[in-house]
Amino acid sequence: MPVSVIVGTQWGDEGKGKITDLLSRDMEMVVRYQGGNNAGHTVVIGETKYKLHLIPSGIFYDKTLCVIGNGVVLDPAVLIQEIKSLRETGQKVANLRISSQAHLIFQYHRDLDAAQEEKHEAGRIGTTNRGIGPCYVDKFNRRGIRIWDFTNKDVFRQKLDWNIREKSFLLNNYYGRNINYNVDRIIDEYFAYYNEIKELVVEESTSLIHEAISKGRKVLMEGAQGTMLDVDHGTYPYVTSSNPISGGACSGAGFGPSRVNTVIGVAKAYVTRVGSGPFPTELEGELGEKLRERGAEYGTTTGRPRRCGWFDGVVMRHAAKINGLTELAITKMDVLDSFDKIKVCVAYECNGKKVMDFPTDINRLAECRPIYEELPGWQSDTTKVTNYKDLPANAKKYLEKLAKLAEAKISLISVGAERGQIIKL
Ligand code: GDP
Ligand code: IMO
Ligand code: MG
Repeated sequence: MPVSVIVGTQWGDEGKGKITDLLSRDMEMVVRYQGGNNAGHTVVIGETKYKLHLIPSGIFYDKTLCVIGNGVVLDPAVLIQEIKSLRETGQKVANLRISSQAHLIFQYHRDLDAAQEEKHEAGRIGTTNRGIGPCYVDKFNRRGIRIWDFTNKDVFRQKLDWNIREKSFLLNNYYGRNINYNVDRIIDEYFAYYNEIKELVVEESTSLIHEAISKGRKVLMEGAQGTMLDVDHGTYPYVTSSNPISGGACSGAGFGPSRVNTVIGVAKAYVTRVGSGPFPTELEGELGEKLRERGAEYGTTTGRPRRCGWFDGVVMRHAAKINGLTELAITKMDVLDSFDKIKVCVAYECNGKKVMDFPTDINRLAECRPIYEELPGWQSDTTKVTNYKDLPANAKKYLEKLAKLAEAKISLISVGAERGQIIKL
């Protein structure tokens, strides 16, 4: 079975872009299966840093077909800008394909995203303000407009007209905005976008994917966000509006679970989170600041400082279970190089009880405190290590601890942002 899935095991930004790029060399196809331009996946090749929001991170290999799957919500202006930026660096994008079933993000989605966050201050999620949630709401409410709708202007106009009436009413009468969308102008704008990308649109992306799978070719699914941001299995409601977990790949790309043989969980050697919501192992003082500075923990998409904390074994176990992880890629080991002591959360203590499973309810989670084990640091530079045997003994002990908590084997260890800074096991 030729399908591998890459999935974030924490709250996103684990380094999925780097790991996807690394594995893409041997892939026939790489597919983004959910999310939109809330994602920011970084690939560093030599001196050049690429930040991808919609285009799969396999794009740097000319023979690898990169598909934006049906499960993605797509802001065409962002995609066009991303294509342009890549081309400016000399990178070809001829191997990009876009599913006609992907849903389109409009200005009213972004406006609703911002208005909801502003109005409900107490429960603010800290979204990326890219209109992701409202676009998925329309999709599931069967109000969405898909790329396929560009093929019939009358249908497109009718759907847009319905949406605009409804959204304008809501924005102006409930959210107190003063918005007047112009249907004709939006149609002109969006059809101009379509003209720029239509060569890349495939009517049946699932057939394309199936063909590769049935021929036994290697196909990689690139998850965005992470398990703890999953709308069903994360820290609801402080989550995104899709299913980043491995199971989401089946619906977001269109194939059955029997086709998957490898699920690679990407985990940072510590944990970060952007936006609001519970984060049991968060470090607010000097240590959190040190992780942020050493790890350059500022959002790839919004530039916001990421909240930082110790590795959370309870989150890890949850991710291993929900995703059926077969392998683990540990990233940013080098960020811990200078710490003399490193803590790992092995369980939670909730109301006097030891808890091993991640609590579903965030109110219960709020009563939980991490139980830590302290491990000695290795206090030496790992950024040039490419062989496991050359890692300091304490770094190996730390990795063994993480693998034990995950009950999964580690197959990759990343010791720097650059493509070559990797240890393969
Ligand atoms: P993604 O969203 O999961 O793809 O992760 P992001 O790209 O948003 O964030 C990961 C950040 O860490 C990026 O800036 C990467 O270039 C960087 N990075 C990835 N792996 C490593 C690593 O092993 N060490 C260091 N220092 N940086 C890394
Ligand atoms: P990658 O793929 C980290 C977070 C936002 C917010 C919540 C909901 O780069 O790992 P949304 O805009 O999706 O409605 O915001 O989810 N979030 C991410 N955090 N990495 C991401 O993507 C994220 N995508 C969304 O900060 O807390
Ligand atoms: Mg990111």
